[in-house]
Parts: sequence; C-alpha cells; structure tokens
Amino acid sequence: MARLNDNFLKLKAGYLFPEIARRVRVFSETNPEAAKNLIRCGIGDVTEPLPEASRKAMHEAIDELGNRESFRGYGPEQGYEFLRQAIVDNQFAGLGIEADEVFISDGSKCDTGNILDIFGPGNVIAITDPVYPVYVDTNVMAGNTGEADENGAFEGLVYLPCNADNNFVPAIPDQKVDLIYLCYPNNPTGTAATREQLQAWVEYARANSSIILYDAAYEAFIQEDDVPRSIFEIEGAHECAMEFRSFSKIAGFTGVRCAYIVIPKALKGTLADGTSQAVHPLWSRRHSTKFNGASYPVQRGAAAIFSEEGKAETQALIEHYMGNAKLLREACEKSGLAVYGGVNAPYVWVACPKGVTSWGMFDKMLEQANVVITPGAGFGAAGEGYFRISAFNSRANVEEVCRRIAEFL
Ligand code: MLT
Repeated sequence: MARLNDNFLKLKAGYLFPEIARRVRVFSETNPEAAKNLIRCGIGDVTEPLPEASRKAMHEAIDELGNRESFRGYGPEQGYEFLRQAIVDNQFAGLGIEADEVFISDGSKCDTGNILDIFGPGNVIAITDPVYPVYVDTNVMAGNTGEADENGAFEGLVYLPCNADNNFVPAIPDQKVDLIYLCYPNNPTGTAATREQLQAWVEYARANSSIILYDAAYEAFIQEDDVPRSIFEIEGAHECAMEFRSFSKIAGFTGVRCAYIVIPKALKGTLADGTSQAVHPLWSRRHSTKFNGASYPVQRGAAAIFSEEGKAETQALIEHYMGNAKLLREACEKSGLAVYGGVNAPYVWVACPKGVTSWGMFDKMLEQANVVITPGAGFGAAGEGYFRISAFNSRANVEEVCRRIAEFL
C-alpha cells in the first residue's frame, strides 16, 4: 500500500478559513432568516471591483492571444520581464533590487508554503504567535515539527509571542534560529514594525546566519511615513532576507492570482557539507521545475496597476479599505474594547471583553450580531483573547457592522 505523509495528521483542525466557513454554513442552515443579514468580516477577501486599468490590460492580452501573430504559449517561469521590471521600478526603486531577483507566482500563500522546498532538514524555525497559519501548517506538512500540545503549539518550532506589551513585534530570541517568518504590516494583528525593530532583526539574522522570510503582502496599506515598506530598506537585509509581495489585496487580485518573491542574489544559506550556497539559483530551479508561470493576461493586468491610471485606482481602493478600518477601530473603541492595528493595515485586532474566549466571541458575533469575525486563537495560542475584523468590505456593510458592534458589544 502506498505510504502517505503522516505529518498531515498532526494538523488537528482544518485550515482556519475553511473551518470558519464550515461553522458559518452550519449556522446559516439552522438560522436561514439570520443568514440573510450575515456580514462577512472574517477572511481578508477583497470586495471592490478590479481596477479598470487592469481589466483593460487583461482584455487586450486576451485579444493578443486570439491572433496567430501575437499568440504566446508558455511564458518565462520566473515571470515576464515587463512585470518584473515594473515591480522593481515602482516598488523597489533605489533599494538595489534587480528585475531578475523578482519571481512572479500565482499567490503569496503558495509562495510562503512552497519556499520550504529549498530548505534542508534540521533548521530551527521561528514564527510569531499569533501568525498567518500557512507558515505553521506548511512546516508541519514538511515534517519540520513534532506533535502539537494541548494549546496547538508544535514541538520544534520557536514561538515568538506578540502581544500588547511588545506592540505585537516580537523580542529578538535569546537562542539561535535559522529561519524567521516576519509579516509586517502584520496579519493578523494589523500592526506595523518600526525601522529600528526591523534593523534589530536584520542584525540578529546576520549575526546568526539566519534567513528572514519577510511577508509584506499588506505593504500598500501603510499610511504612516516612518514605517518601512520593504525589508530591503534596512541596511544588510539583502544578505539575510527574502520578501513576499502580492497583488491580491492592493489591486483586488484575490481571485485573479498574482504575487512575487524577491530573492536577492546576495542571500546565502549553507549546504550539508558546510559550503555556502546562494538561495536564488535554487528557487529559480524549483520554480522552473514545478511552475509554468502566472498566466500572460494576469501578468499584464498586474503590470497595469503601475500605470498612472492604475496607481490612481489602487490608491482609491486603499483609501476605501483604510477608511473602513478607521470606522471599525472607532466603533470597537466606543464599545470600550482595547483595539490594535487598523492604522497601517486593513485588519483591526480587538481584545475580547473580559471572560470571553476568542471562539466565544466568534459565536457571539455570529449568533447575536450576524457578523463573521476571525477568532484570534485560530492564529495561534497567543491570539486567544482577541478577535480580528477584516476591513475588506463595502462601506455600507462596514457602517452596518459598526452599528451592530454598538448594539451588541
Ligand atoms: C486572511 O484573511 O488572513 C487572508 O485573506 C488569508 C490569505 O491571504 O491567504
């Protein structure tokens, strides 16, 4: 009989968002009337239409594919030059990143999971707690952890607690770790890291020959001038970090799918015999073998957000979602709850009322307010006692959620 990967059985619960969807489905089936009023602020899925600049570019690309003269088959696995260059020019200008250090993909969720292919066994892996669950689950699947304890913490991972006391940016560990997942602006807490905090992490990584896996999927939502947008703004980061970025949230691409990883050629790791090896060619080889590139129309649509028209439209989207975040923050504050995030990211992280667990809060919001939120415990043990509200919604829905928060909290 074929041998399966036992590691999957270590994952006790289903993946967080399908699990929430399952619970919402059960609620809706038993409460069909209430279900009609349901407002979903759980998963951070965009609601506003794609920018016209992207749609136009995608239509044109499809028309190109309809002509023998302009038809294209397989594209470059790493992405078309026009998109890689547009990314460098618009997102990394002056940061010493070259177009061939950008790898286009179909999503950051896949990228942050797939990246484990190029790392060997035995790495000590640090993750923040709470955390985007993909980082943990993919390490479990890859066999990089032991079993989970009763709090859901996996043996072998180094958890870096993030709480109100450290402004949700973890303290530098007092032990040596090899891989560090950092996500700023942060999902789920919606908080941002300062330049000094990132500088300290880069110094730690360089001193310990660690690699930082920096997830900047929410960079576009940064509102404050002094918050770094890229890890590569920090001196020395090119030698110790790679960065994940996505078009999902900035341009409404959660369904369209396009993202990228920036891997500087200066980034190195170690082989089994102790020799130093650049990461870039390994990922390039992996990408060429297991991926045939994001589709041509999608890459044209992504590149179009860097046109003048595209920039104006994406800016309007960001202002819309961050306007929502502000309203949600204010509504929770007015209800007397401690509120974090929502200033440089489209997530508002809220402390549950005293004595209410995060799943208890999920049930209360679902059953009484008919609003879907995400329980903090779903992001890790340190998320217990909090819940996350996503600001990705229409203004009318957010105003209604604020009204219900005032009524029920
Ligand atoms: C979230 O709600 O945390 C995100 O939508 C998840 C994701 O981007 O995969």
